[in-house]
Order: sequence, then structure tokens, then C-alpha cells
Amino acid sequence: MSIDGYLDSAMPRRLELSNDADFDRVDAVRASCDAILVGAATVRNDNPRLVVRSKTLRDERLARGLPPSPIKVTVTERVELDARADFFTTGDTEKLVYCASPRVVDARGRLGPMATVVDGGQPVKMRRISEDLGARGVHRLMVEGGGKVHTQFLTDNLADELQLVVAPFFVGDSRAPRFVSDGRFPWNPDRRATLADVRQIGDVVLLRYALSPRFRTD
Ligand SMILES: NC(=O)c1ccc[n+]([C@@H]2O[C@H](COP(=O)([O-])OP(=O)(O)OC[C@H]3O[C@@H](n4cnc5c(N)ncnc54)[C@H](OP(=O)(O)O)[C@@H]3O)[C@@H](O)[C@H]2O)c1
Repeated sequence: MSIDGYLDSAMPRRLELSNDADFDRVDAVRASCDAILVGAATVRNDNPRLVVRSKTLRDERLARGLPPSPIKVTVTERVELDARADFFTTGDTEKLVYCASPRVVDARGRLGPMATVVDGGQPVKMRRISEDLGARGVHRLMVEGGGKVHTQFLTDNLADELQLVVAPFFVGDSRAPRFVSDGRFPWNPDRRATLADVRQIGDVVLLRYALSPRFRTD
């Protein structure tokens, strides 16, 4: 996020907040996970590939009997997703779409063979998604935004760790998406989160917060 807590600008073009060294670090975190989840707005706005970029890291995963990149996961109410988006077309890995119950048939029609559409209930709850992913063998899930998704995982107390990278500039535009929106967070002035690590990576800083006893330092 920016110094003032934004994940992007208000302009259509995606804003780069991290630097190359941090993108490499994120790639390694991705490679250590079983699945990566982003909200449908992030799929629409950023068209992310969400694959492991480093060939070395992909080969290491293959050697461990894993697909080259983690499973890709998104969540949607409206199902305004394009089956030609990079989320669906890139990476030799499974794609899961958790969708509100009333839209499941529509979603299966739109996305066809590009993804597995899972009935996420009505409303879709991140706890239910987490439990369903666990049943599918996903033990370590990386949530890569955006703000609406962050807010739900954090307010529902589902996250074991928060990795927050602060880029050295301001966005200064309240129309831009924020890191989180309003909510009742388990970490507040009466219950402070545990700061586990601080690391400078070039001109950005990585803050790691341990949010549950399942936090791992690796
Ligand atoms: N800086 C970063 O690291 C970073 C990372 C990721 C994203 N971003 C930025 O964040 C922005 C997007 O963030 P955002 O907060 O607007 O959106 P978001 O969290 O990416 O996605 C929100 C969308 O996800 C779906 N969704 C979320 N919770 C749901 C639920 N419980 N049930 C059903 N559907 C649910 C809905 O999709 P439908 O509208 O389809 O119903 C909702 O509109 C983009 O500008 C992107 O560039 C930045």
C-alpha cells in the first residue's frame, strides 16, 4: 500500500507500488502456498496472471510433486468475469470461482471449462471458502487483495499473518481503493497485533504481523 494506505490509484491503469526486489519476494511467497485468492474486482481491474514467475521456483514445486503454480481462487457475487482474463487462461493449475448461490448456474455457463465454479452460499462467507479450500487440500492460502477481500479475512479473524509492504509515496485520492474498508477488526487499541518482523527492501518496507498461533516465521 501507499504511505496513506491505498492499494491503487483511482485511475484505470494499475498502480505499481512494490519494487523489483519485492516482486521477487512475493513470487517466493506465492511459490510456498497451495492457493492464491483475489477478489473479482482485482481480476477485472488488474487482469493478474497469479502464476509463479521464477522458473527455478516452478521447478522446485514440480520436484515436490506440486503444480508449477498454486491453485487460483476468486470470489464473486455478480459473476462479471471474462473467461479470456489471464486469471483463467494462464498457468497449468486449477482455477476455482466461489460464487453466490443464485448465480452458480450463470457462472458455470459463462466460465465453462475454464474454471470450477463452487457454490459459496448466500451471502458468500470467507470462512466457508477457507473451510472448503482446506477440504480440497489447501493448507496455506495467500490472499492478495483487494481491499474488500482483505477486510473480510481480517474482520472474520481468518488470517494467520499479515504482510504489509509500504511504498514510499502518497496516493492522496479518497476515490482510490484502500488496503481495508470499515469494519470491526480483532486488532484494535485494546488488543494490539504482534509485530513479528520488519525488513527494508530497497525503498519499501515489509511489516509482518503474527495474527494467530499458526504464524510461521519461514
Ligand atoms: N496493491 C496491491 O497489492 C493490490 C492487490 C490486489 C488488488 N489491488 C487493487 O485493489 C483494487 C480492488 O479492490 P476492491 O476492494 O475494489 O475489490 P476486491 O477485494 O479485489 O474485489 C471485490 C469483489 O470481490 C467479490 N466479493 C468480495 N467479497 C465477496 C463476498 N463475500 N461474496 C461475493 N463476492 C464477493 C465481489 O465481486 P463482484 O463485483 O464480481 O460481485 C466484489 O465486488 C484494484 O484497484 C486493484 O488494483 C491492489
